[in-house]
Amino acid sequence: MMSQGLVTVSYIGATILFILTLGGLSHQETARRGNLYGIIGMTIAVLATVLGPEVVGTTSYALIIIAMLLGGTVGLILARKVAMTQMPELVAILHSLVGLAAVLVGYVNFMGESHLVGVEKVIHEVEIYIGILIGAVTFSGSVIAFGKLSGKIGGKPLILPARHFLNLALLILAIWLGDSFLAAAEHGEGTWQLLAMTLIALAFGVHMVMAIGGADMPVVVSMLNSYSGWAASATGFMLSNDLLIVVGALVGSSGAILSYIMCRAMNRHFLSVIAGGFGTGGGTVVAAEGEQGEVFPIDAEETATLLANAKEVMIIPGYGMAVAQAQHMVNDITKHLRDAGVNVRFGIHPVAGRMPGHMNVLLAEAHVPYDIVYEMEEINDDFPNIDVSVVIGANDIVNPSALEDPNSPIAGMPVLECWKGKTTIVLKRSMASGYAGVDNPLFFKENTRMLFGDAKESLEAVFKGLP
Ligand code: TAP
Repeated sequence: MMSQGLVTVSYIGATILFILTLGGLSHQETARRGNLYGIIGMTIAVLATVLGPEVVGTTSYALIIIAMLLGGTVGLILARKVAMTQMPELVAILHSLVGLAAVLVGYVNFMGESHLVGVEKVIHEVEIYIGILIGAVTFSGSVIAFGKLSGKIGGKPLILPARHFLNLALLILAIWLGDSFLAAAEHGEGTWQLLAMTLIALAFGVHMVMAIGGADMPVVVSMLNSYSGWAASATGFMLSNDLLIVVGALVGSSGAILSYIMCRAMNRHFLSVIAGGFGTGGGTVVAAEGEQGEVFPIDAEETATLLANAKEVMIIPGYGMAVAQAQHMVNDITKHLRDAGVNVRFGIHPVAGRMPGHMNVLLAEAHVPYDIVYEMEEINDDFPNIDVSVVIGANDIVNPSALEDPNSPIAGMPVLECWKGKTTIVLKRSMASGYAGVDNPLFFKENTRMLFGDAKESLEAVFKGLP
């Protein structure tokens, strides 16, 4: 059993560890250490909360242990089973749980006995109202995001007529209900207002994410991450738990910063992302307009020869590398080429794959040295000096129409300008489009060669062909 003082000290320790975690996670070299800090911080936080003075009686402990065993088992199974390509969906659905928890805690708080009076009572009621509001938006928004990311719901934005007015009306209604709730809560009432607001918030969450097109989904993932942080923070206020408030705020603000960075990476304004209506259906082939020109296929042996004779090679991984699980093969080829004196580097687009840092995680897993992995801005000017760029299962992030065609759905998004190099080899299975569903003129350029097939199988063949 821990005293309140000891609990507070533990909370401060955990907070510091969480801040160190965030610092660690911002560089690949320190990411492992960052994760370790997070694990230790979370263990301290859970232990201090469970052993603290708020938990009394053996029944409580029994319930907590049962809940932890149940939740822990489900989490463990999910984490072991999930494929790297399904990670964003898992993250989205986990965010929904944070939202749901905030809603449930809010209702329990509302229904439970409160010894607060006067201003404190009003503040507590505001906390409940806002907590449930943010929680419900996070919950339904994350469920829809999960549906979109896993392909259960189409990627096309749902554009209702007068949708901005609809959103505004929902907001005004939610504020009016809040006012009415506070007045009713004075007499111990207010249930229907709370229920009505919950429905509105749920509808708002659904509408908000449904309106966002496939191409903007990366921002939505990080935005919901931010929301889940604020929901956790609101839960902290309702439960008077300082640690939860601080941790929620850390998640909330880091998610917001990440959303901002992603918007910048895609040259999109945050507000226009939220307002929605951008991007077409994910993964569908948009009919080619006019002639696209000729495609030049290449086989694995020729690819191997080109690579072996190159001085400067740039590897550009994308979502397809994750699908094919080709990262280990990529590392084998990289090692081989580097041993033979070829300067091999990696160019990583900030939204490559399906979640922030997706490619970095895969490359780290395959033990690709960190110091040859570059971010887009660092190497985009180098392409004129590159002999061979190898695009592995990437598409949108190397699409020249983002720069050249102002009418393209991805117009303005910075891309890796590999076509400025001598030769680009694109590994993919077909001519199908990528996530944003737009055609890619790169495939028809004179200095582009297409190596068709599953990325892992193609790379195995290339590896065999290397001298
Ligand atoms: P995409 O544009 O989605 O292109 C991936 C390509 O990989 C596809 O064209 C596909 O072509 C190919 N592919 C799939 N499986 C393959 C396999 N087994 N072997 C070889 N190729 C395979 O990916 P990207 O270039 O990485 O761009 C990312 C896109 O996702 C952007 O539009 C981004 O906005 C969006 N997005 C990003 C995030 C985050 S946070 N990074 C989150 C959600 C959405 P084939 O079918 O012809 O093989």
